[in-house]
Amino acid sequence: METSFSTQDIFAGKHDAIILFTYADRSPVEQKFDEKFQKAVAVARDRNEFSGKPEETVLHVQRDSPRFAVIVGLGPKTGVSYGKMRKAAGMSARMLQERGAKTIAIEIPRELDAATATQAVTEGAILSLYKFTKYKTLKLEDIKRTKTLTIVSDRTGVAAKNGTDIGRSIAESVNMARDLQNTMPGEMTPAAMADAASKVAKQEKFKIKILDKKGLEKADFGGILAVGGGAVNDPRLVTMEYAPKGAKRTVAVVGKGVTFDTGGLSIKPSSSMLGMKFDMSGASAVLGIMRSVSRLKLPIRVIGIMGLAENAISGDAYRPDDVVKTKSGKTIEVQNTDAEGRIVLADSLYHATTFKPDLIIDLATLTGAALVALGDVAAAVLGTDQKSIDKLLKAGYSSGERIWQLPLWSEYEKDIDSSVADMKNMGVPKLAGTIAGAVLLKQFVGDTPWVHLDIAGVAWADPRSVYFTRKGDGGTGFGVRLVTEFLRS
Ligand code: BES
Ligand code: ZN
Ligand code: ZN
Repeated sequence: METSFSTQDIFAGKHDAIILFTYADRSPVEQKFDEKFQKAVAVARDRNEFSGKPEETVLHVQRDSPRFAVIVGLGPKTGVSYGKMRKAAGMSARMLQERGAKTIAIEIPRELDAATATQAVTEGAILSLYKFTKYKTLKLEDIKRTKTLTIVSDRTGVAAKNGTDIGRSIAESVNMARDLQNTMPGEMTPAAMADAASKVAKQEKFKIKILDKKGLEKADFGGILAVGGGAVNDPRLVTMEYAPKGAKRTVAVVGKGVTFDTGGLSIKPSSSMLGMKFDMSGASAVLGIMRSVSRLKLPIRVIGIMGLAENAISGDAYRPDDVVKTKSGKTIEVQNTDAEGRIVLADSLYHATTFKPDLIIDLATLTGAALVALGDVAAAVLGTDQKSIDKLLKAGYSSGERIWQLPLWSEYEKDIDSSVADMKNMGVPKLAGTIAGAVLLKQFVGDTPWVHLDIAGVAWADPRSVYFTRKGDGGTGFGVRLVTEFLRS
C-alpha cells in the first residue's frame, strides 16, 4: 500500500472513501463537512444513533465520489488522546477496506498537534489494513485490499508531513515483523530469518554478521547450539549494527528467535504447541526495530541481536539432565527442554555485553506465566535499570504497547539454584515463572544496565485484541512501536 500526505481539500481529492473525525459535543468541525455529510451526522445525532463517542461511526454511502464517508467519534474534545485517534483511524480504515475501498483519505482535525496526530492516524490505519494472505489460493481476501492511503491536513508546515513519514516508517516496520511471525514455521527457519535480516540490512545499509552452525561451534555458543541441536534446520546468530556518525549512546536490542518450540524432549501437549511458530516474535521485533530506527535516522548506535534456533526432537536433541556450557563459560542444568528461550538468550545477551552498550533491552516470548499474569493486554517488564524501565513504561502508554513491571528481588535467585551446575533452567513449578526466567537471564548481562520484556502474552492475538489484528493475521509485531518510541525519546 502507498501512503502519502496531502494538503489538498479532502472532498476534491477523488478518493473512494474518506474518514473524518468529530467529537462528542456537536462539534464545529462538522460545519466544515460537505453538506451531505453534515446532514448525515446531524440526522444520526438527532436519532441518537451517534453521539461522537470514541470509535462510534456514521457510514454514509453515495453514488458519486467519495463513495463512502465515515465520520468517526473521538469522545469529548478535551479528552482526546493519540491512542484514541490511532484506534479510531484503524477501525474505520479497516471497515472501508472490507467494503472494497481502494483509496482512502483521512483528514487530521486541525485543532490537534499536527505531528503527533498525523503519526497516530497513519500508524493506526497502516496497522489495521494489514492482511496476511500468503497461503490463501483463493485471492478473495486480496481483492479487498486498499491500495492507497492519503493523510490530509490543511497545514502546510513540515510537522504534519513528518508525522506521516514517522508513522509510516514505524507501522511498516511492524507489519514486516508480522509477516515473519505469520509465515509458517517450516518456512521461517533460523536460516530464513537470517536471510530476512540480510535483506533489511542491505536495504537500510547497516552492518550485519551471521554465524551459522559452524561459526557458532567455533565461537562456543553452547546455549544456542544445545537448543538447536535436535533440528534439521540449523541455528543462527545474527548481529546487526546501525551506527550513525556522531552517535554517543549504544543500545543493544536482543530477541528470542525460536522458530518453532515443540518443547523438545520435554514435549508440549498438542494444544500448547499450536501457535509456537510465534516463538520467534522477539527476534522479528528486533529486526522491525532495526528497520524503523534506521528509517527514522535516530542519532544513536543500535546493536540488534537475534538468537535463532528451532527447538525440535530427534536423537540429537538436548536432554533433561544435560548440562549446557554457555558462551559466557557459565553452566546451566537442563531440567526442562521447554525452557529453551532462556538458554538461547543466555548466549545472545552475553554476546550483547561484548559491544559494551549503555543498555540492553531484550524481547522474548519467554514464559506462559506472563500470559497468566497480564493476559494479552500488557507485556511484563523486569530489569536492573529502573530509569530505563520508567522511560519504557511511559513509552508504553504513548505507543499503545503497554507493559507492566514485575520485581526482580534477590530473594528469587535461590529458585534457580542447581546442585550440579551454576544454575538450572527452571524455577519452582507454579511459582513466579516469569521472574524465574528473568533471574536466569540476569546472570548473563554482567554489569550492563538491562531491561527484559516478556512478550509471551502479547506477541500474537485473537480478534478481540487491542493490537490491530484480525482473525488469521496473528502476529502483532509487539515491541517495534514500544522500543522505537523509547529510543526516540
Ligand atoms: N515459548 C514458551 C513460552 C510461551 C508459552 C510463549 C505460551 C507463549 C505462550 C517457552 O519456551 C516455554 O515453554 N516456557 C515454559 C517454561 C517452563 C518449562 C519453566 C513455560 O512457560 O511453561
Ligand atoms: Zn519452550
Ligand atoms: Zn519457547
